[in-house]
Amino acid sequence: MDGVDELRQKYLGLVAAAEDESSLEKVRVAALGKKGEINLMLRRLVDLDKDERRKAGISLNELKTEVSSALAAKKAAFADAALDEMLRTEWIDVTLPGRPRRSGTIHPVSQVTEEVTAIFADLGFEVAEGPQIETDWHNFDALNMHPDHPARQEHDTFFMARNESDDGPPNVLRTHTSPVQIRAMRERGAPIRIIAPGRVYRCDYDQTHTPMFHQVEGLAIDRDVTMANLKWLLEEFCRAYFEVDRAELRFRASHFPFTEPSAEVDLRCSWDAGQLKVGEGDQWMEILGSGMVHPNVLRAGRIEPRDWQGFAFGIGIDRLAMLKYGIPDLRNFFESDLRWLRHFGFAPLDAPTLHCGLST
Ligand code: PHE
Repeated sequence: MDGVDELRQKYLGLVAAAEDESSLEKVRVAALGKKGEINLMLRRLVDLDKDERRKAGISLNELKTEVSSALAAKKAAFADAALDEMLRTEWIDVTLPGRPRRSGTIHPVSQVTEEVTAIFADLGFEVAEGPQIETDWHNFDALNMHPDHPARQEHDTFFMARNESDDGPPNVLRTHTSPVQIRAMRERGAPIRIIAPGRVYRCDYDQTHTPMFHQVEGLAIDRDVTMANLKWLLEEFCRAYFEVDRAELRFRASHFPFTEPSAEVDLRCSWDAGQLKVGEGDQWMEILGSGMVHPNVLRAGRIEPRDWQGFAFGIGIDRLAMLKYGIPDLRNFFESDLRWLRHFGFAPLDAPTLHCGLST
């Protein structure tokens, strides 16, 4: 059969000359497609006599195989070139620092609660909890504030709605964490050493007051616990919390119905250009209320005052956070402003511990 060699030359030439996959595909269709030249020639074999047909059949099939494998080889070469190009252009430098992904942050109040808990845990205090909706008895009576006690007025209490069927006083949103003293004493008995961090509520709102805020209560009862132990403990706490070598405290006589004697505690500090320094300077800043637990309070906690004595204190957590982290307005704490949260928030995976550092 004539023309086989010409076809071979023509198509191998076209395959070699094809510059991309689509022109290669055109060559394939022209040669081997249903109406392609090689297939048309195969169809014409029927016109030949037997001998010729056999010879021509063999050489046409050889041609077909040859052109097919040339097409396949060229196609593979294109794929290799494409991969090379991709590897050349789409590389990444794995030694570059990662791009930080936006992640949530730990709120300063949570951070400080963790810090305070870590410090007191190290000093042998367990964490105790109580409800935020508290009975009038736990919040006031048991803490030596009978119904007509004037100190009740100072608490700006939120009262819960009362059930028609109840004749007792309505429940309250706890105005301090001190009711947890009562619950812990009743549950655990003496000796006892607990702290109780948590939310408290008072109807008050300005730069340094929000209707919901946070306190941490401390309570230590044993046979011979004294105010000297309290002073040492609070100094240790301040040194650890403010991460300084020295902290000096001043006890100022005060009054709380649930402690006798009572003291408000001031911390020696200086304010330089809005920067707080603890342990030096000649200013004093009030940081907490404290005292020796009143015998009536021990009794309400089912602890015998002739056998046991101890101290209690209450610290404002939000205030501690403002002081340590230089946050000027308490109201921002609870506005959920993402920019504020990102600025003052803490990395979620850095849990504060004494051995690794509280705030670093
Ligand atoms: N409960 C007091 C307050 O909220 C603080 C306090 C606690 C004082 C324990 C003395 C002892 O102001």
